[in-house]
Amino acid sequence: MKKLCITYETVTNTTKEIAEEIGHIAGNRGVIPDVIPLSAVENFDQYDAFVIGAPVHGMRWKTEATEFVKKHRNALKNVPVAYFLDAYMLNNGYHFWQTRIRKCLDPVSKIVKPVKTGMFGGRVPDPLPAPMRLIFGVKKEAPLDVRDENAIRTWAEELITVLSEKSSR
Ligand SMILES: Cc1cc2nc3c(=O)[nH]c(=O)nc-3n(C[C@H](O)[C@H](O)[C@H](O)COP(=O)(O)O)c2cc1C
Repeated sequence: MKKLCITYETVTNTTKEIAEEIGHIAGNRGVIPDVIPLSAVENFDQYDAFVIGAPVHGMRWKTEATEFVKKHRNALKNVPVAYFLDAYMLNNGYHFWQTRIRKCLDPVSKIVKPVKTGMFGGRVPDPLPAPMRLIFGVKKEAPLDVRDENAIRTWAEELITVLSEKSSR
C-alpha cells in the first residue's frame, strides 16, 4: 500500500484529530496518508485504501458518512476499506446506549464490507445538560474528553498491517 485516504466527517474536530493520529501512524510505517474531509475526496483511483471516520449523532453514524459510502460504493469496492466512529457514550452511559452505538457501523458495512472497524470514545465541548445525562446515564463527573489514545494507536497499527496485506499495490 502506497497511498491511503483517511477521510472524515466532523463538527468539533474530534474525528479529525483521530484521523490525523491514524495518518501519523501510517506515515511512520512508510505509507503516504491524505487526511481530508469527505467533501475533499477526489480521484478515487489514486488511493490504495480508504479509512472513513465519523462521529455518532443521534445514535447513528453521522449521515454524511453513510451517504458518502453509498454514493461512492463502486469505487470503494475495488480497494480495502475501514470504518471508525467516535461517540461520547461509547463506554460512558447506560448499557442500552452503548450496545446501540456498537451497532452503528452495521448498516454501512452491508453497503461496502470493511476489512476492519474501530470504535472510540469521543469528546464533547461542554458538559451534557442534566436532562440528557439522565436519559443517557452519563455521570455528572464524566470528563469531556473520553478518547483513549492507546486504543486509537493500537487500532491504527493493526489497521496499517491489515491494509498493507489486503492492498494489491
Ligand atoms: C448533535 C450531536 C449529537 C450527538 N449524538 C451523540 C449520540 O447519539 N451518541 C454519542 O455517544 N455521542 C453523541 N454526540 C457526541 C459526539 O458524537 C462525540 O462527542 C464526537 O467525538 C464528536 O466528534 P466531532 O468533534 O468530530 O464532531 C453528539 C454530538 C452532537 C454535537
